Amino acid sequence: MPLVTTKEMFKKAYEGRYAVGAFNVNNMEIVQGITEAAKELNSPLILQVSAGARKYANHTYLMKLVEAAVAETGLQIALHLDHGADFEICKSCIDGGFTSVMIDGSHHSYDDNIALTKKVVEYAHAHGATVEGELGQLAGIEDDVNVSAEDASYTKPEQVEDFVTRTGVDSLAIAIGTSHGAYKFKPGHKAELRFDILEEVERRLPEFPIVLHGASSVAPEFVETINKYGGKMPDAVGIPEEMLRKAANMAVCKINIDSDLRLAMTAAVRKHFAENPGDFDPRAYLAPARDAIKNMVKHKITDVLGCENKL
Ligand code: G3H
Ligand code: 13P
Ligand code: ZN
Repeated sequence: MPLVTTKEMFKKAYEGRYAVGAFNVNNMEIVQGITEAAKELNSPLILQVSAGARKYANHTYLMKLVEAAVAETGLQIALHLDHGADFEICKSCIDGGFTSVMIDGSHHSYDDNIALTKKVVEYAHAHGATVEGELGQLAGIEDDVNVSAEDASYTKPEQVEDFVTRTGVDSLAIAIGTSHGAYKFKPGHKAELRFDILEEVERRLPEFPIVLHGASSVAPEFVETINKYGGKMPDAVGIPEEMLRKAANMAVCKINIDSDLRLAMTAAVRKHFAENPGDFDPRAYLAPARDAIKNMVKHKITDVLGCENKL
């Protein structure tokens, strides 16, 4: 089974009222933990790679790791570029075997976003890949782009039909109040997502797959473990899982999760060293980190995304 695009996955997810998890990968243990979880639960899967991940691990290494996971598990996996900043990185990923790319033109003007996204769509579709575009801006840090909460802006539903028609994108990321990283709401502020915007987008774009970025839940147990064993993550807070379940039951077909994997992995490594201060074999601490990733992904698939047994 070769890598697949997101096309069929999203069609089934839309009809079945669930979402597919898009998990960020940076090394072998992360790829293994995620794919073992999806295999055990018979779940569709998107693995996504940021520019930072490509810089850290190298395109070819990541490509080969994902190909190894496909060979090992027989899973249907889409390999996706996360937050492509320009045409060149999208082209490079498509040429290098990715089946899907995101072109993130959301910080450009509306017309420039359309022109850039359309150019990527033309190239991607000519080469059998799918494209995710974005309208509206999330707060948080992606590689070198740091969007402050003040500069973040919700998606304007009145733009979505025009954007999708003029660009030809296969899916659309929207901003409804989620944000990247582990500090999503200020201490004391109630977590709130603009479901009214999502509803209006769904009404205007029937049967069109919507994507949610910045969707980690930042479970207190991991933050507590990190803080207990020498870490310092004050006031970390994420998106309540019931809100993500609600979104997955609407037009949202792809939910992006990275920070929750980082937290699970870091908590496991910190705990391991606290309990085994003499250890210096990387396998000793990376094995529990990989198990933590696997458990986190199983939890997401069964309790949040609803994509168990959807292959
Ligand atoms: O949205 C961003 C992802 O969490 C990737 O983060 O750019 O640090 O790899 P990164
Ligand atoms: P989190 O930081 O909430 O995990 O979001 C990840 C993401 O949106 C990747 O594109
Ligand atoms: Zn993102």
